[in-house]
Amino acid sequence: MATDLQPAKFRSAESKISQRERDQAIMDEDVLLSVRNLSTHFFSREGIMRAVDGVSFDIKRGEILGIAGESGCGKSVTAQSILRITPNAGRIVDGEILLHHDDKIVDLAKLDRKGRAIRDIRGAAISMVFQEPMTSFSMAYTIGNQIIEVIRLHQNVDQKEARSRAIAILGRVGMPKPEQNIDAYPFALSGGMRQRAMIAMALSCHPSLLIADEPTTAVDVTIQAQILELMKSLQQEMNMALIVITHDMAVISELCDRVMIMYLGKDVENAPAGELFRNPKHPYTVGLLHSVPQLGGGKSQEIVGISGTVPSAYVRPAGCSFHPRCPAFMPGVCDMTEPPHITVGPNHSVRCHLYV
Ligand SMILES: Nc1ncnc2c1ncn2[C@@H]1O[C@H](COP(=O)(O)OP(=O)(O)O)[C@@H](O)[C@H]1O
Ligand SMILES: [Mg+2]
Repeated sequence: MATDLQPAKFRSAESKISQRERDQAIMDEDVLLSVRNLSTHFFSREGIMRAVDGVSFDIKRGEILGIAGESGCGKSVTAQSILRITPNAGRIVDGEILLHHDDKIVDLAKLDRKGRAIRDIRGAAISMVFQEPMTSFSMAYTIGNQIIEVIRLHQNVDQKEARSRAIAILGRVGMPKPEQNIDAYPFALSGGMRQRAMIAMALSCHPSLLIADEPTTAVDVTIQAQILELMKSLQQEMNMALIVITHDMAVISELCDRVMIMYLGKDVENAPAGELFRNPKHPYTVGLLHSVPQLGGGKSQEIVGISGTVPSAYVRPAGCSFHPRCPAFMPGVCDMTEPPHITVGPNHSVRCHLYV
């Protein structure tokens, strides 16, 4: 697998260069996941939906990356692409998803989505929590059975040891009486407790990356704050990288080291969180920040700083797809060519003609 990732100069059979050195030439050691020019499209009779369209970002070990943007901009499909769980009509048509795994670099985009290699990674090296815990749990089995199954799938331990690990992790996520509640069925738990159980299942194999897709959108404000707090402390304790997907900039400012803003399948801005809030560059980001969502505001909040609505992804505007809504629109430029990634500061890039 590594061969097609190796720069040509390392491909010689006589090369004495170690696998590790080759990998370093491709990807810095402290980068855990490098997504490069990822495009995931859905093919249907209505046409081609460019859900994710040339997205690039890195996440370092132990880093918290926020992915933000209005509903439908491709946040969930980006996450699903990493784990190779996009629905059948969705295909990765371009790009690489490079993961440092077991001292090697694996391109997740090239794996067979039903094969052994990705199944070994899913739920172990990378796991995911969803907005709705019932996405993770089956109704038919106790939470304990399901967590134990995940542990036994990825770790070489017997039933008794797996059960005691499951109880320990349930206790760690704040499940009351974990020795008893491990035998509860998902429907018997409150929404907040189900969410804790889902986090416990996701963390049961100590992933190096956890992806949380709108983890607090469905719960009320108090529980939202508790869950965010819990995720942050677990992230620090386990030194795991975390991708938090949200439409809520308040969640980003609470939690994230770095932020990527998406619009219509594109990564329009990427910066350290503090820098993005102090010095937003893309007019879309500026609008998002002006909308000042309240923590717990829910999905219905409008982006008040930006006029118009997101166009359908089937009929994408030419040039920069934000131009029909952009207050800084430059006719003849923004509607003609797509802006490239432009570096505007340390670790700060933006896709906007204003900065070319
Ligand atoms: N299974 C699917 N089939 C067709 N289009 C889809 C599917 N899932 C998502 N999409 C489309 O891909 C785009 C991005 O969706 P998504 O990643 O879910 O957005 P977000 O998570 O940012 O709200 C949307 O336009 C959505 O309608
Ligand atoms: Mg989503």
